[in-house]
Amino acid sequence: MPIFYGKAALIDYLKSIKTQNSTIGFVPTMGALHQGHLSLMQQSLAENDTTVVSIFVNPTQFNNPEDLLKYPRTLEADIEKIRGLNTDIVLYAPAVDDIYEGKVLSQAFDFDGLENQMEGKFRPGHFDGVGTIVKRLFEIVTPTNAYFGEKDFQQLQIVKKMVSKNKLKVNVIGCDIYRESNGLAMSSRNERLTEQERSDASIIFTTLNLAKEKFKTNSATDVTKWVEKSFDKNPSFDLEYFQIADETTLTPCLRKSDNKNYRAFIAVTINNIRLIDTISLN
Ligand code: PAF
Repeated sequence: MPIFYGKAALIDYLKSIKTQNSTIGFVPTMGALHQGHLSLMQQSLAENDTTVVSIFVNPTQFNNPEDLLKYPRTLEADIEKIRGLNTDIVLYAPAVDDIYEGKVLSQAFDFDGLENQMEGKFRPGHFDGVGTIVKRLFEIVTPTNAYFGEKDFQQLQIVKKMVSKNKLKVNVIGCDIYRESNGLAMSSRNERLTEQERSDASIIFTTLNLAKEKFKTNSATDVTKWVEKSFDKNPSFDLEYFQIADETTLTPCLRKSDNKNYRAFIAVTINNIRLIDTISLN
């Protein structure tokens, strides 16, 4: 399996295999790979001539230094997982300096307000960090198609916005959330949960499904109140936010409109571990 730790060699390699109509699929990750990541890779393998995966824990998107420190780093195990899936996958696993060249700073982006909702409110600077790394990785990998999980739906919309504003030639493809058998959305952070916490965390998806059902006949405000009450009864979980929002603008739904698509978004912490999830309401 071709593995690159530096961008110069990766760029040379991709140039050497590129033909006029060949396509590159790209799956950017921060490692600690799980089945959700592997399903993105599978989709990319099925749809492209070459698949590139990056593993890079991007410091500029962490607003909380402790979260950055504790983020799981499992490169050897990740390489084995990728190898087990397909040895044709090209892996790029750079060090911080290969990406940031001595200046670990974010570019400031304007995402037309998408950055001010939900995660943006609770994680200042996070989306500038995401925009910075994804743009840089796109410049290095020059993908035809790039695959992102819908669990981070706000990130997906922000990446699409960044691509359209910068007129980048890459198709950004959102992929279904991969869930554990109890409904918990797969996330690298799940590795930090105890078995009990992992099992209790099924409440997140259960609540989202009930909220979806309630939204058919209730207002967004009433559904939100109901979710807040449900979490009040559950002291091991701290509800950071629950929001029903317009899927395109991500602004809160104040009054339902028939020609809009809505989505519920949730962030909770359990024992200082932050989990997010989302569900389409249409
Ligand atoms: O979703 C992630 O894992 C990260 O935010 C990404 C897109 C790889 C950028 O660091």
